[in-house]
Amino acid sequence: MSASRPGSSGGDDLRKQRILILDFGAQYTQLIARRVREHHVYCEIHPGDLDLASVRSFDPTGIILSGGPASVLDDGSPDVDPAVLELPVPILGICYGLQLLVLRLGGRVEPADDREYGRAFLHVDRDDALLGPADPATQEAPDAGNRVVWMSHGDRVLSLPDGFLPVAHSANSPFAAIRHEDRPIWGVQFHPEVVHTDGGSELLRRFVQDVCGCEPGWTTAAFIDSTIEQIREQVGDRRLVCGLSGGVDSSVAAALVHRAVGEQLTCIFVDHGLMRANEREQVEELFRQSLGVKLVSVDASDLFLRELKGVTEPEKKRRIIGRLFIEVFEAEAAKIGDVDFLVQGTLYPDVIESVSVKGASDTIKTHHNVGGLPEDMKLALVEPLRELFKDEVREVGRQLGLPEAAVGRHPFPGPGLAIRIMGEVTRERLEPLRQADAIMLEEIHRAGLYDEIWQALCVFLPVQSVGVMGDARTYENVVAVRCVSSVDAMTADFSHIPHDVLGRISNRIINEVKGINRVVYDISSKPPATIEWE
Ligand code: XMP
Repeated sequence: MSASRPGSSGGDDLRKQRILILDFGAQYTQLIARRVREHHVYCEIHPGDLDLASVRSFDPTGIILSGGPASVLDDGSPDVDPAVLELPVPILGICYGLQLLVLRLGGRVEPADDREYGRAFLHVDRDDALLGPADPATQEAPDAGNRVVWMSHGDRVLSLPDGFLPVAHSANSPFAAIRHEDRPIWGVQFHPEVVHTDGGSELLRRFVQDVCGCEPGWTTAAFIDSTIEQIREQVGDRRLVCGLSGGVDSSVAAALVHRAVGEQLTCIFVDHGLMRANEREQVEELFRQSLGVKLVSVDASDLFLRELKGVTEPEKKRRIIGRLFIEVFEAEAAKIGDVDFLVQGTLYPDVIESVSVKGASDTIKTHHNVGGLPEDMKLALVEPLRELFKDEVREVGRQLGLPEAAVGRHPFPGPGLAIRIMGEVTRERLEPLRQADAIMLEEIHRAGLYDEIWQALCVFLPVQSVGVMGDARTYENVVAVRCVSSVDAMTADFSHIPHDVLGRISNRIINEVKGINRVVYDISSKPPATIEWE
């Protein structure tokens, strides 16, 4: 299955009208796609230099050129195939995309004396299909209007190509928005996709729905119906296996495939003994009892703990767990008999990353996708979520009847608690960590903070410190509590948890968990720290 398949996912009404987002590397590109989808229009992100033939075969209803960190004036900066700009479809250039449009269509761009980063005020000079009515001129502020927009650019447009009109300006951008007189081409210097831009989402809605004429047909219900049909078509009466991890993606993928083909699906849950408290019971209850899914649940904790004995190096732990997971999974799948397909909860951000729109990033930690594809199993993949963003996946889960506790849960790493115990992993360390973790989660839920936090976790530190309990001296271990806010786990900040909540967490852990006499809160951001401690 190739990751970049312009045009190949069409064919049904749901994706017939589709926006092509050409990516020039901005950190906000995925946000553009999410906003377009929020307006119920299907879109895909592809590399900015996608050739004309591929663009044609994608058959876009409209094209958006994203922003990007480079300067269009630099040699070798990302470029668009100029023939793409001649296609008879509406085009919207954003930031770098605007500057490319201007440069390729014959205008001029120059480095700005005053770079614009962050908030700026936009003044709309003429009525416009995307920006709405012109702002009245004001004596006090002839240069700026009152619409807040988000800017991030070092270059600016000096002169427009033939046929273009200025639509709006800001203090440092005389051409903050432009459009072609006759053709449906727009460019905006600001970022309509970020929430700080007033009317930004509406601007994108007007572009995809009013200008491009896309019907708002990309809905969760329509996605579920069409995907069920696709799965039935792909699978026929053959059988599938799915590795459940307890996480959102595999749970939703399994529920969707089960809705499509019922008994043909068998889920396998490998308990490696490194799960949180009651994780296995919760997965069994949800899938077996509530959803009626065929589930093989294996307790492989002895095997994993035996192989992890004496291992302290984090990457080595990950490799051992990854290898064993595949071995156990394969052995269980073999017992099922004739199986042709493996269901995976791959999401759209993974697909985009694998076609390297962003370029390779350094491997800081091997994110062995535990629960990932055993490569030599020779199974065809069923990846029903590969077009979806995480928030869309959650919505699909909700509509399939998964409880909020299953669709709204924090990410949990494949190697589980093994990378939250510094040094060797033993049952004696897992048990107190599990108890501390359960207490911390309970208090976070009770304080109504769970949904605001990206990940909340406890780390077991085999560092002994002196304490006093009753009249006795203690000399026991430390638990570190880590709660972070993030949007994509690439960067993160520590969560500003109220002190009384931290106090309750600490108090309860020290009182209720044997072997822990000290609790600390991790106040590091990522970078330079990471979310997990190993
Ligand atoms: P770090 O610790 O690198 O984590 O800031 C970023 C995100 O990745 C998760 N993580 C993992 N997930 N296998 C996984 O499946 C791993 O080995 C692994 N290590 C880290 C981490 O929980 C966070 O969401």
